[in-house]
Amino acid sequence: MAELNQHWTLARTPAEGLPTDGDFAWGESPIPSPGPGQMLTRTIYLSLDPYQWGRRRGGVEKVGEVCHGRTVSQVVESRMDGYVSGDYVFNTNGWQKYGLTGEGIPVFGYMFPRKIDPAVAPISTAVGVLGMLGLTAYSGLVVQCDPRAGETVVVSAASGGVGQCVGQIAKILGCRVVGIAGRQEKCDFVTGELGFDACVSHLSPTFAEDLRAACPDGIDVYFENVGGRVFEAVLPLLNKGSRISVCGLVSTYGRTDGVDSREEWRAAGQPTFEHQGVTYKDLAVGQHVAEYQDQFLEKMAGWMGAGRIRYREDISAGLERAPEAFRAMLEGGNFGKTLVQVSEDPTRQDAGFRPSGA
Ligand SMILES: NC(=O)c1ccc[n+]([C@@H]2O[C@H](COP(=O)([O-])OP(=O)(O)OC[C@H]3O[C@@H](n4cnc5c(N)ncnc54)[C@H](OP(=O)(O)O)[C@@H]3O)[C@@H](O)[C@H]2O)c1
Repeated sequence: MAELNQHWTLARTPAEGLPTDGDFAWGESPIPSPGPGQMLTRTIYLSLDPYQWGRRRGGVEKVGEVCHGRTVSQVVESRMDGYVSGDYVFNTNGWQKYGLTGEGIPVFGYMFPRKIDPAVAPISTAVGVLGMLGLTAYSGLVVQCDPRAGETVVVSAASGGVGQCVGQIAKILGCRVVGIAGRQEKCDFVTGELGFDACVSHLSPTFAEDLRAACPDGIDVYFENVGGRVFEAVLPLLNKGSRISVCGLVSTYGRTDGVDSREEWRAAGQPTFEHQGVTYKDLAVGQHVAEYQDQFLEKMAGWMGAGRIRYREDISAGLERAPEAFRAMLEGGNFGKTLVQVSEDPTRQDAGFRPSGA
């Protein structure tokens, strides 16, 4: 029997709260053939990201559509200029094993396909440190906050995909870096492996005091990934003229009270912002691609080549596991950049890929 494509589609517009099994539907269908100007690619790595939940809950993703997601894939058959069978590409196949890219296939915002050179870095990093996550960190930290050597930079969700990059770039720039993470093993990783100066756990009953002790000179730059009570602990420590990049508020993504989290965040911060002359900027990485992506990719590839950037990935084996891995990420169950390995990675013979459904 011919091999079939496999996919997860959105089964319903999700209710408020966190994802449940009923939000996703598993299906199989014939593998499509590329038309003129298109290529068929096989998904190797699927990136799971918090923003995907916002698209689903917000109705941007329609019921019955293959769930959106950025991917690292290999070209199976190409009728698209510049791509041949066997090439590795960054594209947006979504939560499926095979997908078409090219003419007539919608792209999500700025996510145009690009070729990946496996000689530069492991191909999975094209959806991680050497891709959108790294660019998110770079845009929020360097472009929006302009940290100077000796300043104290604090980043929440420090062991996650974006947070890892933020702290390490800040270290390269000569800053003192303090991470905020959940479990102790995440904090140990952030200081031990990534070289942050300190990391405090937001799960500790003495979290606010711990953060104050870790920032004896206050905070000059805060990279906001979380919001909520983490932000409340940051506020009293903000120095005069400090800068904030509001990258995400992941602690609010499962909320069910209908409150506008961004508005709430601004209202909570306003008295301090005014008193201390704090500036904050909302971050949307897509707005920085045209101007900064090339500059970022060159710098990041150089730092990685020089061994100055380390990273941790949390890879689930098998497309079947995408919904559970997605939910775990939103609850802090992930440890590092969250990926699903959908099929074999020929560049990494030791990957030990075992599809969970096989
Ligand atoms: N603005 C943009 O363009 C853009 C682009 C990409 C990502 N983002 C945002 O960047 C942030 C990080 O994304 P990521 O992909 O790197 O995800 P991630 O950090 O790998 O995973 C999410 C992490 O959030 C933390 N978390 C979840 N619930 C929390 C809570 N209630 N309190 C405190 N921490 C909580 C958990 O870490 P702990 O276990 O350590 O708590 C979890 O591991 C998200 O807010 C995302 O929306 C924004």
